[in-house]
Amino acid sequence: MTSDAKPSLTAIILAAGQGTRMKSARPKVLHELCGRPMVDYAIDAALAAGSDDVVVVVGHGRDEMIAHLGKAYGARVRTAVQENQRGTGDAVRSALPALAPSTELVLILCGDTPLVDPAELVRLKTALGAENALAMLTALVDDPTGYGRILRDGEGRITCIREHRDASAEEKNVREVNTGIYIARAAFLREAVQGLQPNNAQGELYLTDIVATASKAGVVASWTTQAAGALVGVNDRSQLAAAEDAMYTRIADRFRREGATIRATARIDASVVVEPDAVIEHYVVLRGNTKIGRGARVDVGSVLTDVEVAPEAVVKPYSVCTSSTIGEKAQIGPFSHLRPESQIEADAHIGNFVETKKTVIRRGAKANHLAYLGDGDVGEGANIGAGTIFCNYDGFKKHKTEIGPGAFIGSDSQIVAPVRIGAGAYVATGTTVTRDVPDDALAIGRAKQENKEGYASRLKSRLKAGAAKKNESGG
Ligand code: UD1
Ligand code: CA
Repeated sequence: MTSDAKPSLTAIILAAGQGTRMKSARPKVLHELCGRPMVDYAIDAALAAGSDDVVVVVGHGRDEMIAHLGKAYGARVRTAVQENQRGTGDAVRSALPALAPSTELVLILCGDTPLVDPAELVRLKTALGAENALAMLTALVDDPTGYGRILRDGEGRITCIREHRDASAEEKNVREVNTGIYIARAAFLREAVQGLQPNNAQGELYLTDIVATASKAGVVASWTTQAAGALVGVNDRSQLAAAEDAMYTRIADRFRREGATIRATARIDASVVVEPDAVIEHYVVLRGNTKIGRGARVDVGSVLTDVEVAPEAVVKPYSVCTSSTIGEKAQIGPFSHLRPESQIEADAHIGNFVETKKTVIRRGAKANHLAYLGDGDVGEGANIGAGTIFCNYDGFKKHKTEIGPGAFIGSDSQIVAPVRIGAGAYVATGTTVTRDVPDDALAIGRAKQENKEGYASRLKSRLKAGAAKKNESGG
């Protein structure tokens, strides 16, 4: 960030831990849910809640982390390195030098809490008010095992947080837990974090100890979330799966509220857009930068990755489409395979067992059954018969096939590229096209048929006699 920028709210995202319980070579917070790394959700929530600046604390797998953050957020997110992972307090300490001097408030989030809702962060900021040094987000849970417990005095004021390992039997009964989300005044935070001591079961610097410090000097404000389940930190793959399910439900519900029909078993990634009146059937998977236009339908079991589907188009069951576009009212499938750079224009039809790759199928053209169309350009209204193959590859280079508008390619034709078939031309069934076909010409290239009258029964008796002889001789 530039030196003249004056952020007043800076977010610190703690993400330096290894995440041992994931049993993975990859840093925990880079594990994905709904197609995005876990840490991105915390960053997005911090940005949505009005953070002017975001500092992510990295440590374990830091090269991977820095590469990801640079790619996903560029200059909007900065990183601070925590050399040794000595606890959440030490992690915040590592971030302090990166804070702009003008920072007034610091929002602290953990990179392993992807379901956090920005509205809760705004509420927490309201709870902090103008006077308090610290506000924290708490949750009431049925099973508090593993979490820090919120301890309150007789008047209900927060006095401190006790980590599970350090808690007495009585303290363990407390069901109000620390979500690991706080807002602090910067001046208080700098001082409190410098004073932390490793007086606990793990010998770490616990960020949670700043709560007792704040409580001694004044009031620790708090906000208790209504969505307790959502704020459970993800520590292992089972919790990751549960968080992902919750996120998928959240994404589907958002599109439902906006007017789309999303069946219960569809899985729509966080980066996808579904417009109103679109129908996403059971077991559909939509990934990456996929966009489903108004009134379009994606039927059972189809998998779309980075595909733009225009309004009213239909993708019939079990189609697999990648990095392609599908025009208005076009029909794909069932069982079609659109490989990268397929461009299917409006009203075109791609049917079962048709594979396209880097090919334009222009308006109204049809390839309804069993074809391979690679590196091609199929003109408007052209018809590609069953079993047509664009022979685009000679073992060394790819070559282009051009089919003119209104051309008719008979079934079982091989089009040996590079080659051009003219507008309105007709390729007879079973032809191997090796030379350009002029506009309006008929291309026919197959062995001439011969009929031998009365020959079928003679042939059959001869074959039968031969088989009997073989049996007699025991063959
Ligand atoms: C922490 C809280 C606990 C709270 C829980 C909520 C402390 C001491 N405890 O426990 O009160 O209920 O979160 O989920 O704060 N990290 C670093 N550097 C470190 C250690 C951790 O960056 O040295 C990061 C981790 O990557 C992680 C986050 O801090 O994203 C939380 O760390 P974790 O070890 O998961 O803390 P918990 O034991 O869950
Ligand atoms: Ca955790």
